[in-house]
This record gives sequence, structure tokens and C-alpha cells, in this order.
Amino acid sequence: MEKIKIGVIGVGNISESHIQAYKKNPNVELYAFCDINEERLQKKGEKHGVTRLFTDVNEMVKLEELDAVSVCTWNVAHAPCTIAALKAGKNVLCEKPMAMNAEEATEMLKVARETGKLLMIGFVRRYGNDCDILRDFISTDYFGDFYYAKAQYLRRNGNPGGWFADKARSGGGPLIDLGVHVIDFVRFALGNPKPVSVYGATFEKLGDRRNLKTSKEYTASDTPSGAVCDVEDLASAMIRFDNGAVLSVEAAFSLNIKDNVGKIELVGTKGGACINPELQMYTEVNGYMADVSLKAKTALSFDGLFDKEIDHYVDCLLGKTECRSPAEDGVEMMKILDAVYESARVGHEIVIG
Ligand SMILES: NC(=O)c1ccc[n+]([C@@H]2O[C@H](COP(=O)([O-])OP(=O)(O)OC[C@H]3O[C@@H](n4cnc5c(N)ncnc54)[C@H](O)[C@@H]3O)[C@@H](O)[C@H]2O)c1
Repeated sequence: MEKIKIGVIGVGNISESHIQAYKKNPNVELYAFCDINEERLQKKGEKHGVTRLFTDVNEMVKLEELDAVSVCTWNVAHAPCTIAALKAGKNVLCEKPMAMNAEEATEMLKVARETGKLLMIGFVRRYGNDCDILRDFISTDYFGDFYYAKAQYLRRNGNPGGWFADKARSGGGPLIDLGVHVIDFVRFALGNPKPVSVYGATFEKLGDRRNLKTSKEYTASDTPSGAVCDVEDLASAMIRFDNGAVLSVEAAFSLNIKDNVGKIELVGTKGGACINPELQMYTEVNGYMADVSLKAKTALSFDGLFDKEIDHYVDCLLGKTECRSPAEDGVEMMKILDAVYESARVGHEIVIG
């Protein structure tokens, strides 16, 4: 069988996780790279032995034999790169968030439908071991109906700077960068209900804390001094879904708290679940309240996480399976994010039409 020829657009930090996973997949040939940063592009090409290197996505997608791409650019380039690739007949795995806003995401979905090509969104937490275990319990109706969820993704000093802090290139701050992961996780666990209304608040109080000497855990590939920081540092929202469930979410790049938080709680009529980072479940056993911990690795493991996402993408391309994170879910996510930012701006609830 001929190998699937893959191109990677944007070869910064996260592209390495895609590239390493492609290299492990026997059905794939890493075929071309594209980045507007020529020096980074050359280095990445040398590192992985890829010689077809492009600084313009429109040139790369002219390669007829190229089958599919990963879009790993700044958020502002997701829509143009994805649309260029789809129109050239390539399948696309686009990193999260799908786009800058719902309007762009809707256009991307429209082009995917017109061209009949796959557009998968990199909602990587859908491929985590914790998600698999939770879904295993959901499939046996262990929790009953989930009706409320609480998700927090908070960093004390974690604004990555560079394009992440520049709204014109990111579309926003921790909500669109971190909140996406936990909102999508909850929505997926709830069976992908549609959002109907949102109340949101955002705060720009601490900025990117560049005054601090404490080092950050994650920074953008380019962080020039004096760069703009005009994104929120905290976002908080209540999201109501069409099945009646409500999610309360908080996401922060900068916050005066003791420790970073990554916590998801889901409560149902028969039981509850908390991921922090191990999964623990809360239920009733023989008339007693009971906490259930599994003799298994239930904390999200990054080891092999992107491999699972990329293997799934390749399986979709081979027609072996339905896409687990399709573009339709990316559009619903962008509607939620738009509504949070709009609600924060106007100061009241936003109904999603
Ligand atoms: N799934 C995850 O857990 C996860 C983690 C980190 C980042 N991401 C996402 O991945 C994307 C990239 O993030 P990153 O941390 O790798 O950023 P990065 O700054 O390290 O890399 C982005 C690269 O894109 C290139 N680029 C920008 N515009 C381009 C264009 N039009 N054509 C070609 N190349 C272009 C930049 O030059 C840069 O090399 C973002 O959308 C981010 O949200 C996802």
C-alpha cells in the first residue's frame, strides 16, 4: 500500500508532537514542511530529513501527491491555511482552537463539506487515557445523567507571551487557549450537546507578568521583548447546553493563587466524577456514600497522547473509522468562545442562536 503523504504547516513547538507521532505511524510518509520563519523551517527540515520546504502554504499545497496536512500555526493562520489545503484537495487536521471565531470556523466547515475532504480538529483531550476510562463508565450508565460540571484550567504565571498574548494573532487569551481543552472535554463527556446560552466575564489585571523573575513553564517559539499583551488573564463563564446541563468554567494565564489548577468535575444523578489529575468517582454503595478510585493509571498521560490523536487521523484517512473530533464540534466550540467574549463585553447573558 502506498503511504499517506503528510505536510506540516507551522513547525513551532506543538508541531514536534505531530511530527514524532507521524514518524511512528507505518502508514505515513512525512513529505513536506511549511513555515513563514525560514530559519526554523530549515532546521526542522534538517532534523527530520524533510527536503520539500515552503514558506508559503499556497505553494506547498500545489504538491499534487500530498494527501493530508497538520495545521500547527498561530490561531490567526488556522482558517487561511486550512481553507487553502482543503481547496487544493488535501485532508486537514487543524490544531485547537479551530479558528479565531465562529464565522471563520463556519467557513472552514463549509469548504470541507464542498470539497468532501476530512477536517478534523486537534481536541487532543478526547484521545487521553482519562477520557477513555470516563467514557467506559459513561457507556454503562454509571453516572446516570450528568447535569452540572465544573472545569478549571488555571496558571499562576503562565502567559506564554509572543503570539499567544497578541489578540490579533491568537483571538484571545487563556479562554481560547486553555479553556478550549476543558470545555471540549466536558462537552464530549456530555455527548456533545449544543450550547444555548452563556454568561461570561474576563479580566485584564495582571498582564503577562513579565516583571516576575520566576520562569514560565511554556513559552511561544518567538517572544520578542516589548511584544504586545492585550489578551485577558482570567476568564470565567457559565455555559448552558440544550440538554439542560450547565458548565462553570475558569481559565487563567496569570492569577494570584497558590498552585496551578487543572480540575474537571462532572456530577450526575447516580454518581459524580472528578479528574484532578487522577480520576475519582463518587456514588452510593449499599446505602453508604462511597469514593471510588481505580487500580489503573487514571491521570492524563502525555506519553503517547498525540500518537493516539495522529493514529486516529490516519485511520480516518484510511477509511477505518469515523472522526472522533470533527469540524462540527470545532464550530460549536467557537460559538461558545465568541459568546463568552461577547458576554464579558456587554455585561449580560448571550443567547446562542
Ligand atoms: N493540542 C495542544 O495541547 C496544543 C499545545 C500547544 C499549542 N497548540 C496549538 O498549536 C498551535 C501552535 O502553537 P505552538 O505553541 O506550536 O506555537 P509556536 O509559536 O511554537 O509555533 C507556531 C508556528 O507557526 C508558524 N506560522 C505562523 N503563521 C504561519 C503561516 N501562515 N504559515 C506557516 N507557518 C506559520 C510560526 O512561524 C511558528 O513557527 C496553536 O494553534 C496552539 O493553540 C495545541
